[in-house]
Amino acid sequence: MAARGAGLYTVRLEHGHLGHAGQSHVNKHDTVFLKKFSLIIAFLGVLTVSLILFARYLNHLLPHEMTPQAKAQLDARIAPVGSVFAGKIGVAEQVASAEAMKAAAAANVAYGGTLDGKVIYDNLCTSCHTSGTGGAPKLDAGGIGARVAQQGLEELIKKATEGFTGTAGVMPARGGNPAITDEQMQKTVEWMVEQSK
Ligand code: HEC
Repeated sequence: MAARGAGLYTVRLEHGHLGHAGQSHVNKHDTVFLKKFSLIIAFLGVLTVSLILFARYLNHLLPHEMTPQAKAQLDARIAPVGSVFAGKIGVAEQVASAEAMKAAAAANVAYGGTLDGKVIYDNLCTSCHTSGTGGAPKLDAGGIGARVAQQGLEELIKKATEGFTGTAGVMPARGGNPAITDEQMQKTVEWMVEQSK
């Protein structure tokens, strides 16, 4: 073995200086040994590569836990669909709640807060004042017209807003709808007076 080792050393040396010295130093033993040794090395090399490939193959068969990078990429890929959808729902909810709040606020003020006396009259006051039900003064010279002539507009507005019981009947405060604002009452009575000339 030592001799062969020395022989190998020689061969390597000789190969290192090819051209200077020929193959003459390589004896027959060395040649046989070299062939076998090379075969074994080659076999081991092939075996090594095969084992590496087999290991890789096995590794691929195993279920993999996602790397943080892969997870981030996946999240990024599905995020736009998810977040845009959620965003739209959020916006829709905000708009809906804002709308609901507006509606609730308007509901607290009668008839959407309109200052159109005719609208309020047609919705509420007409039930008594158009027909004269329960002694309500009608919208004519003898009715509201006569009252404004006697008491003046301000007094009519005040009494209609506060409500009163007169000789003719009961005028409920704000026509019976407490949600009507002072300003709305004023506009409505003004409109009624305007119709009673
Ligand atoms: C339930 C019936 C009824 C409704 C509804 C009603 N009124 Fe009257 N109103 C009366 C009666 C009855 C009188 C007269 C009371 C009296 O003088 O004895 C009257 C009187 C009035 C007068 C005269 C006040 C005065 O000083 O003489 C005004 C102004 C008036 N109402 C405005 C309104 C307005 C505005 C509305 C609607 C917001 C309304 N009324 C709704 C029954 C009603």
